[in-house]
Amino acid sequence: MIEAARKRLIFALDVDSCAVAERWAEQMHDKIGLFKVGKQLFTRCGPDIVRRIQERGGEVFLDLKYHDIPNTVARATVEACRLGVKMVNVHALGGPTMMRETVAAVNQYCAAESIEKPILLAVTILTSSDQETLQSVGIDRPVEEMVLRLAQLAQQAGFDGVVASPREVPLIRRACGNGFVIVTPGVRPAFASVDDQKRITAPAEAIASGADYLVVGRPISNALDPREAATAILEEMAHALTESDRG
Ligand code: C5P
Repeated sequence: MIEAARKRLIFALDVDSCAVAERWAEQMHDKIGLFKVGKQLFTRCGPDIVRRIQERGGEVFLDLKYHDIPNTVARATVEACRLGVKMVNVHALGGPTMMRETVAAVNQYCAAESIEKPILLAVTILTSSDQETLQSVGIDRPVEEMVLRLAQLAQQAGFDGVVASPREVPLIRRACGNGFVIVTPGVRPAFASVDDQKRITAPAEAIASGADYLVVGRPISNALDPREAATAILEEMAHALTESDRG
């Protein structure tokens, strides 16, 4: 069960140094399912950072949240496949055509190269956006309605899942069913500080509410003993997986 939990634990590599990122991958790959490479690390180190993490035994979630015209996003996502990432995301606000073209291009590329398709995720509404933010860009609908609508659009376009805040998980799970992947940040085990996260959930709670993957950064990176912190999180996740009959 610890192995099932490990596959579901994503460690956010929010660092500005390739050497530091590589060291994390080397030290933590047996505790972590996916290392999340975001815009900061990617812009600092370039795509080579993906290969370097892989060489150290890690798998990569490329968190670049593509949002552009359909052809551009589809082509960029194919390049992510070429790098061998296991998970990659786009903004659902880019629309159904953008998402459908991306799915088609990824399917075609992966079939032609005989490689496993990465998990395609959509970001709905960023958790940093509230009602006021939406209103300021001309969207009058409630945040939750938008989150659901975008999650369903992503599903209809053939996406595998979404990134969602812990409190949105039950809603999305009900609307999109069990096969739809939900990745949740904002996770804080009891031993860690809250940092700047506003709505937090404990690892067990996030799993119990239906999250498939948890994104954890500072509770591991700022821990006195990061391996021990990751182990504690894995044990909590494993327990919750057993309780919820998911392995
Ligand atoms: O250090 P911490 O555990 O807060 O890191 C969480 C990671 O998840 C960061 O990389 C952050 O950018 C990302 N994230 C988030 N909230 C979202 C979407 C992504 O915290 N709604």
